Amino acid sequence: MKIFIDTANIDKIREVNTWGILDGVTTNPSLVARENTDFKTLVSEICKIVDGPISAEVMSTQAADMVAEARKLAKIHKNVVIKVPMTEEGLKATKTLASEGIPVNMTLIFSAAQAILACKAGARYISPFVGRFDDIGEEGMNLIAEIMDILDAYEFDAEVIVASVRHPIHVTQAARMGAHIATIPYEVLKKMLHHPLTDIGIKRFQDDWAKMSKE
Ligand code: E4P
Repeated sequence: MKIFIDTANIDKIREVNTWGILDGVTTNPSLVARENTDFKTLVSEICKIVDGPISAEVMSTQAADMVAEARKLAKIHKNVVIKVPMTEEGLKATKTLASEGIPVNMTLIFSAAQAILACKAGARYISPFVGRFDDIGEEGMNLIAEIMDILDAYEFDAEVIVASVRHPIHVTQAARMGAHIATIPYEVLKKMLHHPLTDIGIKRFQDDWAKMSKE
């Protein structure tokens, strides 16, 4: 399973990149807005830190404008992946960009039907959001199971990026379902890393070692 970090914060990306487990980065307009930095500069900085797919989202709503915006973003770095929302105009733009060899991550996917259309349009990645279902009391991971069943049945090239991750169980469930990628917020990555029994175990080993050294 590939692990992407879901943030536009340079410090958090840099910190987690030192762990040696990062395969890419996803951003979105809300995450970028939090950093209050020039978008292209931010994307360029991220590309210098992580050697993998870096998703940057277009803000245009019409296909021609999406394509024009995407072409400019793609020039920032070879690893830039263009995030396009799952709309009719987004499908048109994805078809064009895919034909030009510009990788697209179709985002804001909330149904298997949308996922099928995104794959057909030539998206390199598709991003179904799970947490926003959970936020309204539904089971977001059911969508991943449905999509993985469909992709397993056909030779679609798209990779599934499980997005809108709220906790480590989303990640382990996604892995058990065979999802290609999970894009994980910094706070969830930290929760994945730490376990109280590990901390207790380390302390016990150190205490026992210290006792032996005194004897
Ligand atoms: C992918 O990058 C998505 O934009 C992101 O995971 C959405 O997460 P949210 O539902 O917490 O906004």
